[in-house]
Amino acid sequence: MESQTQSRSIMKGTIQDAERLISNQKSLLESIPEMVLLVKNGDSIEYMNPSAKRFLGDLTHINDESERQVRLSELLRIVAQAIREDKVGTFETTLGQFHLEYTLAPFFGYNNEALYWFFIRDLTESKRQFEEISLFHTSIETILSHKISELKESERMRQKLATELNSLKEHLKEQPAEGKMVGSSRALSELRDMVFQVAKSDATILITGESGTGKELVANLIRESSNRNNKPFLKINCNTISDSLLESDLFGHEKGAFTGADSKRKGKFEVVDGGTIFLDEIGDVSPRMQAALLRVLQDGDIIRVGGNTPIKVDVRVIAATNQELSAMVQQGSFRLDLFYRLNIINISIPPLRERKEDIIDLTTHFIRKYRLAFKKDINFLPQSILDRLVRHDWPGNVRELENVIQRAVLMAKNNVITENELFFDTQPGEKNQAPHKSFLQRIDGRTLKTMVSDFEKDIILYALEKNHGNVPLTVKQLDIGKTAFYDKMKRYSISPKELK
Ligand SMILES: Nc1ncnc2c1ncn2[C@@H]1O[C@H](COP(=O)(O)OP(=O)(O)OP(=O)(O)O)[C@@H](O)[C@H]1O
Ligand SMILES: [Mg+2]
Repeated sequence: MESQTQSRSIMKGTIQDAERLISNQKSLLESIPEMVLLVKNGDSIEYMNPSAKRFLGDLTHINDESERQVRLSELLRIVAQAIREDKVGTFETTLGQFHLEYTLAPFFGYNNEALYWFFIRDLTESKRQFEEISLFHTSIETILSHKISELKESERMRQKLATELNSLKEHLKEQPAEGKMVGSSRALSELRDMVFQVAKSDATILITGESGTGKELVANLIRESSNRNNKPFLKINCNTISDSLLESDLFGHEKGAFTGADSKRKGKFEVVDGGTIFLDEIGDVSPRMQAALLRVLQDGDIIRVGGNTPIKVDVRVIAATNQELSAMVQQGSFRLDLFYRLNIINISIPPLRERKEDIIDLTTHFIRKYRLAFKKDINFLPQSILDRLVRHDWPGNVRELENVIQRAVLMAKNNVITENELFFDTQPGEKNQAPHKSFLQRIDGRTLKTMVSDFEKDIILYALEKNHGNVPLTVKQLDIGKTAFYDKMKRYSISPKELK
């Protein structure tokens, strides 16, 4: 009896345990978000938890060909395949637009039926989020790689600009303010362009132009902007040295070549090897020197005075002259072949009177230069003075203008340059004799009276111009009555104002 009661209470306990297990399992299956299916024989579903039902839909509507059915049969196909392949572990698959993860586990039921737990997780949303994130990452990557290439490009630009800036600095260094070619006339900007264009080549250059136009300045600029700018630069004024001295100076001499040549000596062409030689006043060289120069330019070698072995030299020649070399060739005083060799590139600087636009720039430039040099506080240049400067013919070109301004700045009393400080250079043999020369040219077939009055007019003009149109001063100098002087000015239509 007692054992019966005992076994009954054990039974009751076991049933309670089983019920507890079942109820725990049930609440677990009903509350987990994963889908759980119990599949029999791989083709029918014995149980679905609420998550699975939600996903697959209500099976009571199994007849309608709804999306749910399609999903269900698809799912069964996946399950059947997994069972067939006896898949162990977790796998991923797609079902329509859904992305699923599933795990297969055996279920031990009654009668050895082929039952399987099928756990499914819907990864669609997390996949979408993941894809979004990776899309976001890719677009960030694209943006970043764009940014990186932009940065690289701007770095490249920065480096390019830095190099340009450096070469600009170099350029500025090469052109000290002192040696700069000032002037904005078309002629001068074309000249400047040409200078920089031809500088880099090794070609011989002939610079022509009247005295004071800036030939030496151009030669300096060419050399400074050439590839030989860090090599020696020698300037030789061909008319200041005697011919034989010039020859041995340029080409050197062997021992005993002439009295006093007690040892051999290298000439400038050898010393300057790799550099540049500026032959100023080339029009003044003798025929003998012309032949020697032709040799250097033609064959690139020299022969020392008293020697006979040619020595190779690498020298760039820049020559300058204010003479008309072509006219000299015609007269036979300059070799045609040398002229051709020199004239490969000709830079011809126009006289200042043909580029009067440059006068203002140059005047300002020289005022600045001498104001600094003489520590003067000049900051005003009356228009009347500028007009006077522009009217002048500048036979001595830029050098004359520089001299005029230098004197004016030096003499100026306050911060202004006035008429009193303006003195033009007298050109020997030119201005002083001008009236006389013009008078003599007009002698033929004319009466004494007209000739005398022409002469008188020239004298008055000359004196007035020299005195910048100052009548009282001219009257005093010429020792003539004031009224008579005004009469003559009227007769000859002379206006002192124009001569200021
Ligand atoms: N465009 C210019 N800008 C600034 N200065 C200039 C300019 N042209 C000439 N000069 C200045 O004028 C002066 C005369 O120039 P430079 O000696 O070069 O002339 P040149 O043609 O060689 O004269 P010459 O035939 O008499 O030897 C120099 O002081 C030079 O610096
Ligand atoms: Mg000169």
